[in-house]
Amino acid sequence: MRVLGIETSCDETGVAVYDSTTGLLAHALHSQVAMHRDFGGVVPELASRDHVRRVIPLIRQVVADAETSLRELDGIAYTQGPGLAGALLVGAGVATALAYALRIPAVGVHHLEGHLLSPLLASPRPEFPFVALLVSGGHSQLFDVAGVGEYRLLGDTLDDAAGEAFDKTAKLLGLPYPGGPALAQLAQQGTAGAVRLPRPMLRSGDLDFSFSGLKTAVLTLARKAAGGAPPETLPAARRADIALEFESAIVDVLEAKSLAALDATGHRQLVVAGGVGANRALRGRLAAATVRRGAQVYFPDLAFCTDNGAMIALVGALRLAQARAGDNAFSVRPRWDLSSLTSLPVPPETPVHCA
Ligand code: KG4
Ligand code: ZN
Repeated sequence: MRVLGIETSCDETGVAVYDSTTGLLAHALHSQVAMHRDFGGVVPELASRDHVRRVIPLIRQVVADAETSLRELDGIAYTQGPGLAGALLVGAGVATALAYALRIPAVGVHHLEGHLLSPLLASPRPEFPFVALLVSGGHSQLFDVAGVGEYRLLGDTLDDAAGEAFDKTAKLLGLPYPGGPALAQLAQQGTAGAVRLPRPMLRSGDLDFSFSGLKTAVLTLARKAAGGAPPETLPAARRADIALEFESAIVDVLEAKSLAALDATGHRQLVVAGGVGANRALRGRLAAATVRRGAQVYFPDLAFCTDNGAMIALVGALRLAQARAGDNAFSVRPRWDLSSLTSLPVPPETPVHCA
């Protein structure tokens, strides 16, 4: 099964071709980071317009790089949500129109399922079941993953996500958008233990997170150190100490809760996904901690931690394979919660099968 994946949920246009027999054939990404930098965050309307400009040339490039053709595709996967509505519409519109023209199925993919399963693109890849730590700009969650589509939420953030905390704290320290990588870089020049920040919810006894207090603690600490002046006026060395302590606090909490999730489920594999999964301190710490307890940790390649088309193409291929396997099957739901129903969009006109 050969699937084209299109990701346009936020500020990256990602396109890839994934083949379920041979793996990832090609991928490409256009990042809008430079365009949004002056605004200190993503401007939705600019994001949508840029996706419109980039997506078709990227599809042409990736199909050529994969040494395939549109005619050889079995399906087209696109990020259906969550994300910015206008940005999502670009990918959804292009994918659906192209699939209709090619008479192949278009499949809408949940962005977070893409992140969650992205370690399956790496080698060696984890086997189900595993615990997944999903740490992105909008989410900090722990899941028990039994198989494709079988996700049990074990813990969630009560307020800010880990990536959001990185971004807000970085802004406070006068670092450019996106804050996570910039803060991690500054932390490398910090002295461990020079300042002290709390480890929120470390001993809460559950698998939930809370990071908004940490950001406030950074503000208080930095203002005090700057004698009431704005934190960005602090000398670089002091800001580096704060950045390192902030990063360590987040890593301490993520490590402790991930290990507790392994204990709670009895699983021996931990999968880390999402943008914050690119953080080197987190990767190093989780690698050491899992080795110590005879477990294994899997990360996506750095390129597939943040948003990309490869994870969307992968999930599209897995979902289409599931749909095919169940072609002549039917099922009933003896217990079916009425409130779990959502309003379904008009069924796609594209056939579920390739002719
Ligand atoms: O998964 P992602 O690309 O987008 C979302 O779906 O949210 O994650 C982006 C988040 C941003 O908050 C960014 O600051 C953070 O991941 N991030 C990092 C690093 N690289 C990206 N945070 C800490 N350290 C990094 N090296
Ligand atoms: Zn993402």
